[in-house]
Amino acid sequence: MQKQIFRLYPPPFAQVNLAGLYLDHRLYTLGTADKPFVYANFLASLDGRIALEDIHTGETYLPKSLTTPADFRLFLELEAQADCLITHGGYLRALAQGRLGNILQIGAHPRGADLVEWRRRHGLAPQPAIAIASASLDFIIPESVRRHRQTVYIFTGEGADPVKVAAWRREGYPVIFAGRGEMVEGGRLIPLLGRLGYRSIYLIAGPRMLDTVVRSGCLHRLYQTITHQLMGGELFRTMVPGPELGPAGHLTLRSLYYDPAGPGGAGQWFAQFDNQ
Ligand SMILES: NC(=O)c1ccc[n+]([C@@H]2O[C@H](COP(=O)([O-])OP(=O)(O)OC[C@H]3O[C@@H](n4cnc5c(N)ncnc54)[C@H](OP(=O)(O)O)[C@@H]3O)[C@@H](O)[C@H]2O)c1
Repeated sequence: MQKQIFRLYPPPFAQVNLAGLYLDHRLYTLGTADKPFVYANFLASLDGRIALEDIHTGETYLPKSLTTPADFRLFLELEAQADCLITHGGYLRALAQGRLGNILQIGAHPRGADLVEWRRRHGLAPQPAIAIASASLDFIIPESVRRHRQTVYIFTGEGADPVKVAAWRREGYPVIFAGRGEMVEGGRLIPLLGRLGYRSIYLIAGPRMLDTVVRSGCLHRLYQTITHQLMGGELFRTMVPGPELGPAGHLTLRSLYYDPAGPGGAGQWFAQFDNQ
């Protein structure tokens, strides 16, 4: 039997199938060239942790108790609706070192095998383009991205090392400046992606990219899975690491679903917030 969850908002209360929940949002129809639809998805504990830091090595990690198959299925449904994914140099380094799994292609996981055909039926290209944000420009393009012939853009700041910029360009990858210092700025990145023809942009990068995209007013929807656990941990990461955000961080709840069978016996909420 298909996994079922409960809709708490908007009314009426209802029992619904998990599979297909986010596909029904039709995100791929919501953007235009002038205003690409930008969405992100984060997974947090009740005390706001999205990652913990190992106090000995300083490395951050996503605690296993935060992740569930249900959340991952919804992540894949969001990815299936994107024509461009925004990732970052840190993820590509972790992927190359085998510290994180590959999430860059539709259909790469059995839990999302049906999404290849779903994308074809809805007239989307087989795979989304990949926009890589990086200040260091130290990463390698994964073999899977080359094999699937995904379009790749590298975004960095004007202060990036010119030798590295030239090296990437020699390899045939466009390097586009989208920030005045070394960092990419959301307010420059998103309009540039719109001009490149992308309408449905899924931010799968970490908190620092979320920070700049929200701060610039370019995020349209935040999907957040909130697991019902108090995580603790002396050193941790939260979703927005920058200074106080103010009204730019005020969101409107669009819908809320409840899964009583979440991680390790704790429940979880699947919330969607609009930022307009
Ligand atoms: N719970 C969740 O939903 C969730 C989601 C995402 C991440 N996480 C976790 O949170 C922790 C920290 O996340 P993270 O390491 O992915 O992300 P991060 O600390 O926000 O950023 C990592 C890398 O992204 C690049 N970057 C970020 N912002 C940039 C900008 N404005 N301009 C240019 N480059 C930029 C940099 O790459 P270069 O070094 O190449 O310059 C940076 O090293 C990790 O443990 C991760 O697993 C959790």
